[in-house]
Amino acid sequence: MASQSYGLLKGKTGIVFGPLDETSLGWQIALAAAREGAKLAISNVAVALRVGKPAELAKMLGDAPLIQCDVSNSSEIDACFKEAKEKLGSLDFFVHSVGMSQNIRKGLKYEKPNYDWFLKTLDVSGLSLHRLIHGALAADALADGASILSLSYIAAERTFTTYSDMADAKALLESITRSFGARLGEKKIRVNTVSQSPTPTRAGAGIVDFDKIYEFANLLSPLGNPTAEECADYVVTLLSDLTRKVTMQNLFHDGGYSSMGMTTELLHLIHHAAASDEKMREAGFEEYMIERVRKE
Ligand SMILES: NC(=O)c1ccc[n+]([C@@H]2O[C@H](COP(=O)([O-])OP(=O)(O)OC[C@H]3O[C@@H](n4cnc5c(N)ncnc54)[C@H](O)[C@@H]3O)[C@@H](O)[C@H]2O)c1
Repeated sequence: MASQSYGLLKGKTGIVFGPLDETSLGWQIALAAAREGAKLAISNVAVALRVGKPAELAKMLGDAPLIQCDVSNSSEIDACFKEAKEKLGSLDFFVHSVGMSQNIRKGLKYEKPNYDWFLKTLDVSGLSLHRLIHGALAADALADGASILSLSYIAAERTFTTYSDMADAKALLESITRSFGARLGEKKIRVNTVSQSPTPTRAGAGIVDFDKIYEFANLLSPLGNPTAEECADYVVTLLSDLTRKVTMQNLFHDGGYSSMGMTTELLHLIHHAAASDEKMREAGFEEYMIERVRKE
């Protein structure tokens, strides 16, 4: 993370939804926003306030208001924005850094999900952005020119099989970003998502084969995977006035990964691995182990 402040958010106020512990993207975003001069409230769901460390973060930020809010519960959202407005005044930004899938947690495959959990994934991880914006507008809590920022993942657009129902939730999140972005332009309010690389957080590490997905992205990206701290440095620019005409965008923060097709090194690595029956079997490529691959 940048060690110096650029004063990008001096005089601004905002809420960060979703910091759990030091690994959380939301945690690092809150620290970076405070470094840039913002006055913040921190929010998370009740169970996270009990088992996580949001209270520690609030203390680090000079006793920032700590507001309990389940982002899938409209009445908690209404109460949250009311309290935030009372304590901080009009808000210049909020960050949605929330995601959860019971199907992933419990190891259910995309093809055989529990549909109640599927709906919960969509509600907590996607529709919640709609609920939050709706709640903020109803409470008249957003200042003109405010910035609304959520975290997404490339699986919203391209298939990463183990990301399962979260991919659909992220597609919903990105769509709501565009739909509300168009409607909030008259108030000069911006709505964007940052599509971050695999990052070792509690939610990230829950994805099947996360370590391998992380490794693959790191090898394919010309700049390597960005850390949570680097993500936070990018996010604060999007909360600042410097990006006041950026809206309805999904902005990749991924070391160049999303524009890559292949690298020569990865190509050679796969070619060598494909020559080994043992490695092909280990990777589950039995059906693919046909003569034409290994005969060249
Ligand atoms: N870690 C990654 O690889 C990665 C990559 C791209 C995008 N993201 C996104 O970044 C965001 C933050 O996730 P993270 O990786 O920092 O993990 P994290 O586990 O630190 O944060 C997820 C947060 O969501 C909160 N949450 C869950 N249900 C909630 C509810 N009903 N109401 C309010 N909060 C709730 C959790 O308590 C937790 O604090 C998520 O949207 C995630 O999908 C993560």
